[in-house]
Amino acid sequence: MVPHCPAEGPLERLPRAGVVIPAAGSGTRMGRVAKPFLELAGQPVLWRALRPFLGHPRVEGVVVALAPEWFRSPPAWLAALVGPRLSLVEGGETRTASVLAALEALPAGVDLVAVHDAARPLVDPDIFDRCLAAVGPGRGAVAGWPAVDTLKEVGEGGRILATPCRERFWHAQTPQVFPRDLLLSAYREAVREGRSGTDDAALVEEMGGEVVMVEGSPWNLKLTWPEDLRVAELLLKLKEGAG
Ligand code: C5P
Repeated sequence: MVPHCPAEGPLERLPRAGVVIPAAGSGTRMGRVAKPFLELAGQPVLWRALRPFLGHPRVEGVVVALAPEWFRSPPAWLAALVGPRLSLVEGGETRTASVLAALEALPAGVDLVAVHDAARPLVDPDIFDRCLAAVGPGRGAVAGWPAVDTLKEVGEGGRILATPCRERFWHAQTPQVFPRDLLLSAYREAVREGRSGTDDAALVEEMGGEVVMVEGSPWNLKLTWPEDLRVAELLLKLKEGAG
């Protein structure tokens, strides 16, 4: 029998992903420096955070949210990447506002959206693949790592209020991947109601949506404090030595 439609091979049916990179923070804890444009082992942090997604076969387009001054005048290496697969938008006052601005600029035809913080330059494509394998209709998937230290809830004056059961706690990382419509409605609802979150899953959870945790990596460090740059450089050296 003649095949019904040759374009309907297994690869063609895989949902296409868009990627949102919030990079519009003010780097307060890093000493008010533009974290995405710091050099890490010879390459900008943002370039390292972008690269695994730009080169991924499932990715249709990437949108980067930048602080106003960087949006108005991006560095030459970033301006040179702008084209059908990468665009820039102006971020907002909060991470939530920056992600929403980028979400609204994603190309049409994208079924899934991955959000990945520019502050995580050590991400590798395996983590993204695990998220893509776990995401489904009405369900998001978030990279994370189980807590290893005992956790304490601490109140005023350093007084310990509670010791929750560590076994059930994970550190949430990015990427976080969701069906596009689910994430967009969670963001629009949060912004309408004046809520914001420190990650994307929180907004979907608040709407009653299902989100599953998948294995990220302890190497998927988030650059927050100045010392983190040094640690990231050492980890990169080890990674590149191992590869
Ligand atoms: O501040 P926080 O560590 O949660 O930032 C996580 C990510 O969100 C960073 O990559 C930062 O650049 C981005 N962000 C943003 N717009 C803001 C604040 C943070 O894009 N207004």
